Amino acid sequence: MDRKEKRALELGEILTSIQDDLDKVKDNLTSLTRVDFDWLSEQLGYVVKSDGKGIRPALTLLAGKFYRYNLGYMLAMATAVELMHTATLVHDDAIDKSNVRRGKATIYKIWGGETAILLGDYLFAKAGEAVSDTQSPRVIKLFSQTLATISSGEINQLLGAFKTDQTREDYFQRISGKTASLFSLSTESGAILSEAPETSVNLLKEYGFNLGIAFQVVDDILDFVSTEQTLGKPVGSDLAQGTLTLPAMLLVEHYPQDNPIKKVFQNIDREKNIARAIDMVRNSSITDECYKIASGYCHKARQTLSQLPENSSRPVMEALADFIITRAK
Ligand code: IPE
Ligand code: IPE
Ligand code: MG
Ligand code: MG
Repeated sequence: MDRKEKRALELGEILTSIQDDLDKVKDNLTSLTRVDFDWLSEQLGYVVKSDGKGIRPALTLLAGKFYRYNLGYMLAMATAVELMHTATLVHDDAIDKSNVRRGKATIYKIWGGETAILLGDYLFAKAGEAVSDTQSPRVIKLFSQTLATISSGEINQLLGAFKTDQTREDYFQRISGKTASLFSLSTESGAILSEAPETSVNLLKEYGFNLGIAFQVVDDILDFVSTEQTLGKPVGSDLAQGTLTLPAMLLVEHYPQDNPIKKVFQNIDREKNIARAIDMVRNSSITDECYKIASGYCHKARQTLSQLPENSSRPVMEALADFIITRAK
């Protein structure tokens, strides 16, 4: 079905069947704030109370339902992936000098870069502690490898900043690292911890990976076409950071002469050219082209689901693939 025809289901509606367990993950996160150190307790409370979508922990729980769902292990893992995700965002906002996240001022904005680095480190450490509660060396190793992959993706992004001579392969490699790797960890770990056979572990991993790629492509589209009010984070920020995302890449390809992105990256009339680039992306076929690419990855994700046993998770995971495309934030 076409993106524009489909009524966008709310995430809450999609995840009703696992809401009780998601609430328990939230309780785990809240319990982190109970430390005998007022300063830290305040910062942690601020981060934990903010409204993330919780897609990654949901993926872990859903992936864990195909075989033996062990609630204790699932909650530990779901908590770990959300903590790792939150830590990367706290660091990402400091790197990007970003002022708004989840509709609130960032840690960076309120308390500064040093606090963001230290708080991010604390969250990574707590994520490691949570994953160790799964008692699975395989999952613990995957967790560490994923963090290394995310860091490599972010480093690649930094090294490629303000360069327009990048290929699509560069782009997909970067987003595989910085985003899809955590989505695939979320599903793969749920599968492993529920003692799924290896073929199913691989299918669930693949589902998560493809979903993650689509998720980041859509995030990159929304950075051009949405508003800060809707997204709860700044728009136009990728160009300001010098990050050549898929829509930007297509704009460079379609209009090689007199291109606003080339000018932004050469630091010529930055504000004016960012506005022009946004305008050109919005008023061209580029967003549709990017949505088509994202939908292709969601389609692949759905195909892997069809090879798994039928259970209560499958329709939810199908609906999630649609949500990724239709989402407004
Ligand atoms: C933001 O992820 C970072 C990206 C990978 C684009 P989310 O959009 O899932 O962030 P929250 O947790 O809902 O704020
Ligand atoms: C995801 O990419 C960043 C991380 C993996 C931490 P973005 O840089 O696009 O995320 P947002 O847009 O700031 O949420
Ligand atoms: Mg960012
Ligand atoms: Mg983004």
